[in-house]
Amino acid sequence: MKIAILGGTGALGLGLASRWIRSGHEVLIGSRTIESAKSACEKLNINEDQGMLNADAANQAEIACLTVPFSFQLDILSEVKDALSGKILIDGTVPLVPPKVMRVQLPEEGCAAIRAQTYLGDSIQVISAFQNISAELLQTDAEIDCDVLVCGDKRDSREQVIALVNDAGLTGWHAGPLCNSAAAEALTSVLIAINKNHTIKHSGIQITGV
Ligand SMILES: NC(=O)c1ccc[n+]([C@@H]2O[C@H](COP(=O)([O-])OP(=O)(O)OC[C@H]3O[C@@H](n4cnc5c(N)ncnc54)[C@H](OP(=O)(O)O)[C@@H]3O)[C@@H](O)[C@H]2O)c1
Repeated sequence: MKIAILGGTGALGLGLASRWIRSGHEVLIGSRTIESAKSACEKLNINEDQGMLNADAANQAEIACLTVPFSFQLDILSEVKDALSGKILIDGTVPLVPPKVMRVQLPEEGCAAIRAQTYLGDSIQVISAFQNISAELLQTDAEIDCDVLVCGDKRDSREQVIALVNDAGLTGWHAGPLCNSAAAEALTSVLIAINKNHTIKHSGIQITGV
């Protein structure tokens, strides 16, 4: 697929991009500046033409993935709203509120994914994923034993995202409607607390009993 990664110059964006490129997808790196986008392409060893402004990436892609800090989620969505009409937006946003990132602090809308869906409206299908996976691990070739909870209101859209999760070398699970993203987003603070208290670098989650 042709996948736009919005804010693809950052840690999560580069991690997902490297894995999707390896599995044969065409990745477009979106950024607020052309220079950053092209420099990310250089890091990923792809053609610099695949680096562009967020809105252009969203426009050219079949599906988009948002990988920016929570405080800039709506700013970036305002740049790409029109370009995303009729498409799926994968949202990896975790509503961390520094400095207390070990504390669950969900927004008043319920969670970041619902905030995105409310802002974008019905013509765009928001599916949330990747909140519990370490971007640092994604940037390596290592096998990753962390599962991905995929939340969204339409089963077939979740199915498409689960296929992309699997292509990134991870196991994706149907985790119910978009409002359930609150649980995945909250879990990130729990994992950060576990990392700190147990001196672990990349704790993650796995579904058992399968
Ligand atoms: N890091 C992880 O391990 C991890 C794991 C799971 C989920 N997440 C979530 O994924 C999202 C991205 O995390 P990250 O660690 O990849 O973030 P990041 O590296 O700090 O930032 C990602 C990108 O966001 C854009 N950005 C930065 N400041 C901005 C601003 N003021 N306004 C608009 N855009 C700005 C930048 O792109 P340009 O400068 O190119 O525009 C930057 O490269 C977050 O919501 C995070 O909670 C992160």
